Amino acid sequence: MKVPLLDLRAQYAPIREDVLTAVTRVCDSQHFVLGPEVEALESAMAALVGATAAVGVSSGTDALLAALMALGVGPGDEVIVPAFSFFATAGSVARLGATPVFVDVEVDTLTLDPEAVRRAVTPRTRAIMPVHLYGLCADMDALGEVARTAGVPLVEDAAQAIGATCGGRAAGALGLLACFSFFPTKNLGGFGDGGLVTTSDPALAARVRLLRNHGAEQRYHHRVVGGNFRLDALQAAVLAVKLPHLAGWNAARRAHAHQYARLFADAGLVGTLALPPEPAGRLHVYHQYVVRVPRRDHVRAHLAERGVSTEVYYPVPLNRQECFATVTRDRPGCPVAERAAGDVLALPVHPGLAEAQLRHVVACVAEALS
Ligand SMILES: Cc1ncc(COP(=O)(O)O)c(C=O)c1O
Repeated sequence: MKVPLLDLRAQYAPIREDVLTAVTRVCDSQHFVLGPEVEALESAMAALVGATAAVGVSSGTDALLAALMALGVGPGDEVIVPAFSFFATAGSVARLGATPVFVDVEVDTLTLDPEAVRRAVTPRTRAIMPVHLYGLCADMDALGEVARTAGVPLVEDAAQAIGATCGGRAAGALGLLACFSFFPTKNLGGFGDGGLVTTSDPALAARVRLLRNHGAEQRYHHRVVGGNFRLDALQAAVLAVKLPHLAGWNAARRAHAHQYARLFADAGLVGTLALPPEPAGRLHVYHQYVVRVPRRDHVRAHLAERGVSTEVYYPVPLNRQECFATVTRDRPGCPVAERAAGDVLALPVHPGLAEAQLRHVVACVAEALS
């Protein structure tokens, strides 16, 4: 039996006609960059998140970059980021000449540890950037308190967490600014790169809009130095077709996660494996279903032999990346992130999975550990 980590063809098949209609509409209009398709997506995303503004941009990476630029982050500034995330979280900080300050994550959720953040704040801290890793919001209540005390904003890296909630509010409405990715593999993925910034601060929304278009409101008149962070109409049109399906897809991911939990319990593996937690008040959307497993590489190889695709997000913590060697030289280590890098394993959890596939995955994990 084959169990792919992701099956985009299966997701596409039932919406194919709607997608092609939307793509045809854009082709017929010959309006390819920003414009009404992007504006429609922005309105729908602002409503979904519960923010007053959404600004479509060219990728999740550029969403982070534009959000930090809007805050004026630059050389001499520090931005606190988790040591365990996708590279862009820290890369966006470094690209602005600021210093990413790597802080360890919580043992259970693998999201930014609020107490460790409190210790890492300095007078140069300009922002704190929690990542809602794998689709679970960071502890935004505790982080909010730390941020308020420090007098610095929270910028959410919500790239993996569209549809997740914390305390009844959606990812994207929990920080001063929030950043989403529409990379094709995300819970809401385009047909190429795309991203979005949400905020309920009108001045910051205007700033991100300005920055995404080379800092120009009027063509060839540049108020600030921005970039080309614009979202394509084709991406927006595809995403707008997919958006109404997101809640159903996320519900299917959650159902699979809960079924995995039952199956692992039946197999007597709870305790051997650490399953992803669902802290009270936080709705997990399982962009990834990540277990912590002993002899991870052996288990992974066994699953591959038995047709089950898996992935390791992430094998190297950010504070151990070669490009940050000078930044981290005199800084404390991040032992939780470093341990996680050695034992995390993402199992297939995409909406198209069948019960028999979930059972096969669990049986193969059990075999590998027997
Ligand atoms: C946590 C996190 N931040 C940022 C990004 C960057 O998004 P993109 O790939 O759209 O640039 C990603 C996407 O992979 C991500 O997972």
